[in-house]
Amino acid sequence: MSTIESVLNETRIFPPSDEFSSQANVSSFQAYQALCAEAEQDYQHFWAKRAKERILWHKPFTQILDDRNAPFYKWFADGELNVSYNCLDRHLATQADKVAIIFESDDGEVIRSTYRDLHQRVCQLANALKARNIKKGDRVVIYMPMRIEAVVAMQACARIGAIHSVVFGGFSAKSLHERIHDAGAVAIITADEQVRGGKHHPLKATVDEAMRMSDTTSVQSIVVYQRTGGEIPFNPPRDVWWHEITQNAGSECEPEWVDAEHPLFTLYTSGSTGKPKGVQHSSAGYLLGAIVSMQWIFDYKPTDIFWCTADVGWITGHSYVTYGPLAMGATQVIFEGIPTYPHAGRFWEIIQKHQVTTFYTAPTAIRSLIKLGGDLPAQYDLSSLRLLGSVGEPINPEAWMWFYEKVGRSRCPIVDTWWQTETGCHMIAPTPGAVALKPGSCTFPLPGIFAAIVDEAGHEVENGKGGFLVIKKPFPSQIRTLWGDPERFKKAYFPEDTGHGKYYLAGDSAYRDKDGYFWIMGRIDDVLNVSGHRLGTMEIESALVAHPLVAEAAVVGKPHEIKGEAVIAFVVLKGKYPHGEEVARITDTLRDWVAKEIGPIAKPDEIRFGENLPKTRSGKIMRRLLRTLAKGEEITQDISTLENPAILEQLKYPSK
Ligand code: WT7
Repeated sequence: MSTIESVLNETRIFPPSDEFSSQANVSSFQAYQALCAEAEQDYQHFWAKRAKERILWHKPFTQILDDRNAPFYKWFADGELNVSYNCLDRHLATQADKVAIIFESDDGEVIRSTYRDLHQRVCQLANALKARNIKKGDRVVIYMPMRIEAVVAMQACARIGAIHSVVFGGFSAKSLHERIHDAGAVAIITADEQVRGGKHHPLKATVDEAMRMSDTTSVQSIVVYQRTGGEIPFNPPRDVWWHEITQNAGSECEPEWVDAEHPLFTLYTSGSTGKPKGVQHSSAGYLLGAIVSMQWIFDYKPTDIFWCTADVGWITGHSYVTYGPLAMGATQVIFEGIPTYPHAGRFWEIIQKHQVTTFYTAPTAIRSLIKLGGDLPAQYDLSSLRLLGSVGEPINPEAWMWFYEKVGRSRCPIVDTWWQTETGCHMIAPTPGAVALKPGSCTFPLPGIFAAIVDEAGHEVENGKGGFLVIKKPFPSQIRTLWGDPERFKKAYFPEDTGHGKYYLAGDSAYRDKDGYFWIMGRIDDVLNVSGHRLGTMEIESALVAHPLVAEAAVVGKPHEIKGEAVIAFVVLKGKYPHGEEVARITDTLRDWVAKEIGPIAKPDEIRFGENLPKTRSGKIMRRLLRTLAKGEEITQDISTLENPAILEQLKYPSK
């Protein structure tokens, strides 16, 4: 892969400026090393100390790590807290009138919500949910546009101890249905429609479609936020309007105190089988991870205007929109729209307008903005920026340099943050006042995170050698289990063969360079990273074979200039091999089908038809050959086990 080659040759290094270091929370490499040494000495007390200092406890904890039932670790288990109290109430005495959220809608309308206002909105919705008999431990699916109300919905669940499960608004009815069903949700919070790039997209109608797909009898209430006033199906008494149920709801709601280990939320992500995994997070450990990473990696200061562009449908939006910034008492920007509407300078305009200091986005967004207007940032005053961040996939050095020079004006460090839905917060990322940056490397682990690269037997490999990325010791913000499937949790993350079931297996390959810097190479499983989003190849294959025309399908990734990876599907039809305009017609049909089955992000970029797929004699599809064909490269691998070599010719080029 070209990215890997270019990062292998990367020798540029960017030490932090004195100006940045002198004000930083971790202000030198020695200070970073001292934190690591403290954790090294006694990692449990290292975390306990911070959990005491930075979380407001209703009942203090006396136990730190409970590993008796490893890998089902518990942290601070006898403590009690409420996460929403930690994000809202704690600020009321000192900074109730500070703006918590600067919201900018798709069409440019700006709404400011202070901590007092946000607290009131959350309490009102929490009371309204309680009045609908939604209780501690109940699951609530949230399917919302990216607005203040999405944060309010999540915080209101946290306030009453309900477990939220946010489903990204771009997912289809089918995907939504699977998640509602798996979670056993009692309620859904949604909106009539969402607006992005000037276009309206249905949400409530999609919820209804999901509800019709059977087995969703658990759902008693659907709360609908009115975003557009568009025509929607509405079935009282199950369906209620957000504005009606909150109108007369009390503006104080005593938080539900929960155990440290009480699940704060589940969030579904793709794995290597067809079924998405419900990643379950804790309350206290998760919150602690969000807090320390805000301090160490985002170098958070009370004067910051923080902007993470991620949607709350992803973990990034959970940790760095809904929980991290609010726990810190920050002012943050939330933007409803897309970076290219109404023009390709929208992000830069927002930074200028709201004086953003910390800007956190994804490489795919950076690459598309370079393509659409590489010189556009120069037309805006971006002098408020002091720190940039990247997340979701490896950032190629060219995009890194552009981000650094054109957006950060060579003044702002870039924190390339490696982490996952399962880790809850940053794992490997530079403390920006301390660590010299190398474009394309996420640098070093956070203090207290014992990341390493191991071989198949679980032994650490030397620098320069690739291997499996693992985390050797438990950490507070880690995944607790997969919702309803503890066996799959153990198998996926603590398999016996790497680290003998003791290490957390991330599912990425990586290596460390001669200076010990970490470089992420990519997934080791059948998971693609398309525009920073995880997609299981099996999920897309299952969707394709569910179509009546399709007999068999195999999906692989191929490097893509903007999206990082593109989805390439090899398809065998039940009928005859298609020709001429049939190819285009069936391709469109299948692409639309996948969008309906999973969501538009999963649409194959290319479909190649064959009379068969390359298989071994035992009938196993040889995906590595398909990956080579997808890239348009010559096959140089050993094909002696291939049953039907002639098929390679047919699959070599896009079907005509
Ligand atoms: C996978 C996790 C948690 C952020 C959003 C994605 C890849 C994530 C980086 C990075 C290289 C990265 C990994 C990881 N990834 N950040 N900075 N450099 N790769 O969360 O959907 O759970 O995906 O994204 O492959 O395993 P996710």
